[in-house]
Amino acid sequence: MEGDLERILLSRQQIAGRVHELGQEIAQTYKGGESDGITLVTILSGALIFVADLIRHLPFRMKIGLITVSSYRGATTQSKGSQLQQDLNVQVTGRHVLIVDDILDTGGTLRLVRERLAVCQPKSLRTCVLLRKPGKAPPDVQAEFVGFDIEDKFVVGYGLDYNDHYRNLPDIGILRREFYAIT
Ligand code: XMP
Repeated sequence: MEGDLERILLSRQQIAGRVHELGQEIAQTYKGGESDGITLVTILSGALIFVADLIRHLPFRMKIGLITVSSYRGATTQSKGSQLQQDLNVQVTGRHVLIVDDILDTGGTLRLVRERLAVCQPKSLRTCVLLRKPGKAPPDVQAEFVGFDIEDKFVVGYGLDYNDHYRNLPDIGILRREFYAIT
C-alpha cells in the first residue's frame, strides 16, 4: 500500500503526538461541563480511527454518537455533494456536542451534519477535525479544533480512503495520481 503513495505527509508519530495535544485542548475547553453531558458525534467512516485514538486522551465521561455521511467520491477524488446515509443514533438535546471528522475540505459534510444536529437543540455544538485544507470551506463552516492544516492534495490513510481502500494505512500520505481512476 505504501507504494501507492507519492509521499507520506504525516507520519504515525506526528499524528499520535498531535492527537494527544488535541485531547488536552478539548479537555481544557470542556472542563466542568461533564455534569451537563458530553456527546462526541463521529462522522463515519473516515473519522473511525481518529476518534478511537482521540477519546483515549479525553479524561471525562462521555457518550459516543454515530452518523454516516457519503460525500459520493467513490472511485473519484471529487465530492459530488454530501448526503446523510445513516442518521444519528443517539439523543443530543440539551447536551454538549463535539462533532469529530477526519478532514474539513469543501465543508459540505460538516454543514450537513451541523444542520442535522442543530435541530436537536444541543447545549453547545463544536467541531474537531484531524485535517483541514485551508481556504476551501466557507467561513460559516469552520472547526474549533484542528489537528493539521494540509495542502490541497488528495490524502489517504489513518481512516481516510480512496474508493474505500487505504483506511488501514497507519500514516497519512498523498496518493499517486496513477491510482485515481477518474479525477
Ligand atoms: P468535504 O468536502 O465535504 O469533505 O469537506 C469531507 C469528507 O470528504 C472526504 N474527503 C477526503 N477523503 N482524502 C480522503 O480520503 C481527501 O483528501 C478528502 N477530502 C475530503 C472525507 O470523507 C471527509 O469526511
